[in-house]
Amino acid sequence: MNPNHVIEKILASRKIIPAKEKGEAYAPSNIALAKYWGKRDTQLNLPVTSSLSISLHDKGSFTTVSASSVNQDILFLNSRKVPADKNFAQRLSCYLDLFRPTKDFYFTIETTNTIPVAAGLASSASGFAALILALNDFFAWQLDDQSLSQLARLGSGSAARSLWQGFVEWHAGKAIDGSDCFAEKLPYTWPTLRIGLLIVSDLEKKISSREAMKICQQTSPFYDVWPTHVAQTIETLHKAIQQQDINLLGQTAEQNALAMHATMLTSNPPFCYWQTETLTTMQKIWSLRERKVPVYFTEDAGPNLKLLFNEEILNLVREEFPLIDIVEPF
Ligand code: PMV
Repeated sequence: MNPNHVIEKILASRKIIPAKEKGEAYAPSNIALAKYWGKRDTQLNLPVTSSLSISLHDKGSFTTVSASSVNQDILFLNSRKVPADKNFAQRLSCYLDLFRPTKDFYFTIETTNTIPVAAGLASSASGFAALILALNDFFAWQLDDQSLSQLARLGSGSAARSLWQGFVEWHAGKAIDGSDCFAEKLPYTWPTLRIGLLIVSDLEKKISSREAMKICQQTSPFYDVWPTHVAQTIETLHKAIQQQDINLLGQTAEQNALAMHATMLTSNPPFCYWQTETLTTMQKIWSLRERKVPVYFTEDAGPNLKLLFNEEILNLVREEFPLIDIVEPF
């Protein structure tokens, strides 16, 4: 089973012919509270476990898709042209290969991100989600959410979760073609929940999450317990969200993130995304908790931390972390 088979099935009765001059879309970035870490199929980005995320409202990607006037794909990222030999441009062109009306049709993709690229802030998630939504618009496919989520996943796993605002669960599924592996929006709201983005570094990371999860899955002795841990995490998160219990949510998400980073520290070779400031910030958060301040963090494959807390302690959080960027997810 390869991505072309999946496309044939999902687009079976649809035409790959431009229906308008430009397709456009916005997709929010998302932060996993129960992480996707490890694949059961690398070609189709099928995960070992389900995962659960919260979307970042106005932090995300705006993308337009049109026909290229030259014989190659053209990519603009935040108004700058990305050289065709850059990793990211090549990865994008491979993805676009799945959707060309003819072999010699090339695309112009213009993406504006409101978050730093490749800093563990999931810009590939919003990037591929906005791209598939823009392609859906460009070709007037009118695909349903489940199909769009499956197509976004072929670009980047976490993109499957970036089609909606709010809490989203991505089901791992069992089918070899990934037909039961898609995300869906959860019917929960939490108006007082806040997410604080603390950028420790916006430099591009040295090890991609794709490469990192592969090493962990293959070599960390801790990976064996990861699937059971994630299943428990997701169950507890549902409870925490339904009860709007910040301590239960924060403690559960923080532990899941640290468990993921523990698989990196115990890999062969070992590696670590933390920088000195990542650790000092974690220690600061833990000492705030000793003073009964309900603030927690999560961290993806990068040095940056995302703080989880309720609106009632917003002023205190701003005083403690003056450079924090606050997101209101609802
Ligand atoms: O979608 P990818 O290949 O960028 O992997 C994302 C991995 C994490 O961000 C670390 C976890 C997650 O669930 O988003």
